[in-house]
Amino acid sequence: MRQSFDYLVLGSGIAGLSFALQASRHGTVALLAKRARSETNTIYAQGGIAAVMAPPDSVDEHVRDTLVAGGGLCREDAVRVTIGEGPARVRELIDLGAEFTRDSTPLGYHLTREGGHSRRRVLHAADQTGRAIERTLLDAAARAGVQFFEEHHAIDLIMSSRVHSSAPDRVLGAYALDLKTGEVKAFVAKAVLLATGGAGKVYTYTSNPDVATGDGLAMAHRAGAAIANLEFIQFHPTVLFHPQAKSFLISEALRGEGGILRNKAGEAFMERYDPRKELAPRDVVALSIDAELKRRGDDCAFLDMTHLGKAFLIEHFPHIYTTCAAFGVDMATTPIPVVPAAHYVCGGVCTDLNGQTSIPGLLAAGEVACTGLHGANRLASNSLLEGLVFGHRAAETARRIAADSPRMPEVPEWDPGRAVPPDEGVIVKQNWDEIRHLMWNYVGIVRTDKRLARAQRRLDNLVGEIQEYYWGYLVTRDLLELRNLADVARLIVACAQERKESRGLHYTLSWPGQIEPRDTVLVRGKPAPDAWPR
Ligand code: SIN
Repeated sequence: MRQSFDYLVLGSGIAGLSFALQASRHGTVALLAKRARSETNTIYAQGGIAAVMAPPDSVDEHVRDTLVAGGGLCREDAVRVTIGEGPARVRELIDLGAEFTRDSTPLGYHLTREGGHSRRRVLHAADQTGRAIERTLLDAAARAGVQFFEEHHAIDLIMSSRVHSSAPDRVLGAYALDLKTGEVKAFVAKAVLLATGGAGKVYTYTSNPDVATGDGLAMAHRAGAAIANLEFIQFHPTVLFHPQAKSFLISEALRGEGGILRNKAGEAFMERYDPRKELAPRDVVALSIDAELKRRGDDCAFLDMTHLGKAFLIEHFPHIYTTCAAFGVDMATTPIPVVPAAHYVCGGVCTDLNGQTSIPGLLAAGEVACTGLHGANRLASNSLLEGLVFGHRAAETARRIAADSPRMPEVPEWDPGRAVPPDEGVIVKQNWDEIRHLMWNYVGIVRTDKRLARAQRRLDNLVGEIQEYYWGYLVTRDLLELRNLADVARLIVACAQERKESRGLHYTLSWPGQIEPRDTVLVRGKPAPDAWPR
């Protein structure tokens, strides 16, 4: 089955929905979500959205904080665009009905503080900011006539060179598996936005939900798009440490409001690692916790909020309070057991300032993209802002692309070849576990050349085995996710092996210092049309 739309969006988080909402003013929009439409990384965002809302804060200060966190690798014009346009996009969100936590200041909104920010500038909806934003945008997109296809898992981009061998390469749409019927459909469009989010599931421990399997990154790479900065994986310092608590984040905003990190002996240890203590950027905090755990042989650290009082904690962090309580931790009386976990991919598919990738017709926004905003390390709460700003910008680019392409492209139906129904589910499970463990152990917070080489050898074998299985058997969700996870893991390792220094989130004992020039971004694949990164 084939369906045609002016615009095709893969992913229903903040970037995909912002794009869809804008694009729906100019044409038909199909939005594919691989589970229910709200099951995205966005909905789990707790802390908030950083934006310069009123003096004494200023764009220059937010830009400076972002550049410092980015360790010399940010693209400054991307930083200025995001931070300069962000407040207008946030106000649009408020006009659409997003409810942020209010207070009695002249601004009328409570701003919280997070690591690396020189001021309080993080708008939030208590501790469920992503939920408030996601719901607002989903409602607005539905009202605007965006057509949602839930339980539709994109398989691969459809490239013109594969369809008409002489045509200059551009994207024509995507094949997607309808998970309810098992049918593979062709979605054809004049412009395609990748907004598939991150890849936290590449690691054993992650704050991300199950959907974060790097699908867009893997698809873009297979299609030949330029990719950069995948060595910069952000580990969040504090995820709840409890055998039954899968991926539950303990927001950085808790440290912003005065939380103290202690070891098992009850000692506040951050001052031994960094003068900014709990408010150091999160790579420093995650590395410090990792070092403290290794030094003492402990399995977790503790975030102590007990001095802030029950009423304050329930008012500011109602979701975290009740979730911890459900796991038997009353944070008003007991420090919360925490460990670091994979949280955010700072690199991705290279785009220009308008969301255009190196492949004509293919745009990217949100965590899957590498706009240059984050550099070697993302400043906390800059990512929702980036999704809003670049989702919006990419929609304008898509409008221009669609105006220049009056006819819908012709594409063939999906051809399953001689594939037969899968008979060895155990292969998927075995490879899935193996990849996540080896990434955690060899490509985690602290790396070495030897560990990376081990990871690379194992991944090469696993990818070969998965390819063989992929071509022989009919596609299933598990197989698609495994294939993408393996491709992304291999890309992360390849990027990490190329960076012969320790910078930002890439910390390696083999290359402890930094090299010059500071602004070297290593690109894999064809470079972007406006030649960034150079
Ligand atoms: C948090 O609430 O700690 C996460 C915020 C972010 O990742 O930007």
